[in-house]
Amino acid sequence: MVETQHSVENFCFNRLPKGLQESLGSIYYAGKQVLDPLAENAIYVGDARDLLKQVAPNSIAVSVWSPPYFVGKSYEKHLSFDDWKNLLETVVANHFPIIKPGGFLVINIADILVFRDENMPKVQADAVQRKKVSLHREDILQVLSEKPHWKKDDLAQHFRCSEQTIDRRLNGNNARGGKYGTQSRVKIVGGLVEKWALKAGFYPYDRRIWVKDAAWENSRWTSLSYRAVDEFEYIYIFWKPGVTTYDRGRLSDTEWKTWGARGVWSFPSVRANDDHEAKFPIELPLRVIKLLSNKGDTVLDCFIGSGTTAIAALRMGRKYIGMELKPEYANLAKGNIRKVLNINVQNSIFDAA
Ligand SMILES: C[S@@+](CC[C@H](N)C(=O)[O-])C[C@H]1O[C@@H](n2cnc3c(N)ncnc32)[C@H](O)[C@@H]1O
Repeated sequence: MVETQHSVENFCFNRLPKGLQESLGSIYYAGKQVLDPLAENAIYVGDARDLLKQVAPNSIAVSVWSPPYFVGKSYEKHLSFDDWKNLLETVVANHFPIIKPGGFLVINIADILVFRDENMPKVQADAVQRKKVSLHREDILQVLSEKPHWKKDDLAQHFRCSEQTIDRRLNGNNARGGKYGTQSRVKIVGGLVEKWALKAGFYPYDRRIWVKDAAWENSRWTSLSYRAVDEFEYIYIFWKPGVTTYDRGRLSDTEWKTWGARGVWSFPSVRANDDHEAKFPIELPLRVIKLLSNKGDTVLDCFIGSGTTAIAALRMGRKYIGMELKPEYANLAKGNIRKVLNINVQNSIFDAA
């Protein structure tokens, strides 16, 4: 059993001015009654919303994670947009009691680039290069009524256009929806994340841009728009009020100059998503952990996936707590931790669930 009382290390609350003691008291001493809290250096299977309630209060120096992005991955297919918002809002709220005063919550997330918005007016793009094909859906339907067995390639040959044009006219399935389907737009998530964090009691502390690589394969829809390809994500950093240790020695001079004090971080994303569909590169949690915590601190990732954050934490001499909804990913994380660090940890630690 892990101790339930977590003191705020190296810091004497009673020495704060009386006014501050009153205003910060509820933050420092909130929710202390977690009996038998989750042990460190373990991966837990379950819903982050439930598991977070079992973490010892004021125990996490930095929590860093990348949640479902609401882009149709297998682990989020069951979620409506409202469910997705509820998941993230609850997860952020449940972080507040467990982050150390002066500690950080770091969220890596991206805007939703093709967000289907029922309310958006259905207006077809005026695509200049395509005007040569003055083909209407009605023309195709007319031909199909006479030749119902014709396939797309027969129709394309008949109308001297591409099969894609036939498809688009028939199904309105260009990514912007044409005039028949639901139109899509960008959904900017930063405002939502800020709102949830402020509501929970955190304050926005910093934000960085992670420049990955240009994902051309995700940009089929750019042919009918002026939109950019998908090539960056956000790293939002929120602060829990309290004393933050500021230690210039955490990074070397070169590290401060090249990334510690820089707003834009550039490193490639994970190319081989062979064992998990949406890993972030280890560079991301490595930097966050190095910058925002001390050796021996505990790092949390409540969407641990393949275990990247846990491996980064161990490499940096920190402890970790990982949470994952899908048992197969939790097993993958445990295996990756074992493999990469070649640590011989007793099953009882890994399997504490
Ligand atoms: C974007 S991935 C994170 C990948 C991770 N950063 C890595 O490098 O492998 C999000 C993960 O959250 C998990 N997940 C989804 N909903 C969850 C929930 N409610 N509670 C815990 N984990 C969840 C998914 O199964 C997925 O593995």
